[in-house]
Amino acid sequence: MSVEPQPAPVYLSDSEDLHRTLAEQRDYYRARAAEYDQWFLRQGRYDHGEEANAKWRADVEQVRAALDAAPLTGQVVEFASGTGLWTELIARTADQVTALDAAPETIAIARERLAQAGLLEKVVFEEADLFAWRPEREHAFDAAFMGFWLSHVPEERLDPFLSAVATSLRPGGRVFLVDNRRQATSSSPDQPLAAPGEAFMSRRLNDGRTFRIVKVFREPAALEAAFARHGIDLLVEETPTYFQYAHGRARLPTPS
Ligand SMILES: C[S@@+](CC[C@H](N)C(=O)[O-])C[C@H]1O[C@@H](n2cnc3c(N)ncnc32)[C@H](O)[C@@H]1O
Repeated sequence: MSVEPQPAPVYLSDSEDLHRTLAEQRDYYRARAAEYDQWFLRQGRYDHGEEANAKWRADVEQVRAALDAAPLTGQVVEFASGTGLWTELIARTADQVTALDAAPETIAIARERLAQAGLLEKVVFEEADLFAWRPEREHAFDAAFMGFWLSHVPEERLDPFLSAVATSLRPGGRVFLVDNRRQATSSSPDQPLAAPGEAFMSRRLNDGRTFRIVKVFREPAALEAAFARHGIDLLVEETPTYFQYAHGRARLPTPS
């Protein structure tokens, strides 16, 4: 089922600048959809040579192995599902995946990927702005997945978003996330990292158009503390070079 995108909420604490940047971030991923996988596959501008590419692939394998070792099952919600690179893995073990993303262009690519894999019937794609999203029913999901999403959530929006995640999970529900460590060769040489602590960066498409987006690199302890504020115990681990990944679990109510 596809739902009409909600208008982006205006938070009184948001600066004009942040509000504009979050809209530009959505536009960027819509425009980037067809070239998005080049980043993950280390192609074109993201090809850093065999040695760095091999490290990337080994790090990807480590994250996949961690997910394989504790697969997400039951009703799974995936936040910012993109072109479906991870949706395909999750759909193999879940009963059903609800895959949410703001960009119809990435959803179309993900749909095609899942169809090719024979897994389309296990996935419900929904177009949604995650800064406005709340679950239709509380505690409806057994697990939540987020790949390379939280680093695009600014500090001002982190708690409202994690509150929605926590509300969507049943007690004991699981979380798995993967995101970038701060590492210059993750991206392309023409997209240098912003200064440490800076929340915005400039991104460029293959055709030269540039966009301003949010990119926040959080320390493992900061991520764990943020989830803990919403009743989710999270343990963050890091691959040698490129990624942080984490398993989490929504706390069970303490017996009275
Ligand atoms: C870095 S990509 C990650 C995609 C996918 N999870 C992966 O790991 O390949 C970020 C995704 O966030 C989506 N996105 C950006 N702003 C959004 C918003 N406000 N609400 C929902 N999705 C958004 C983009 O369309 C894009 O697919």
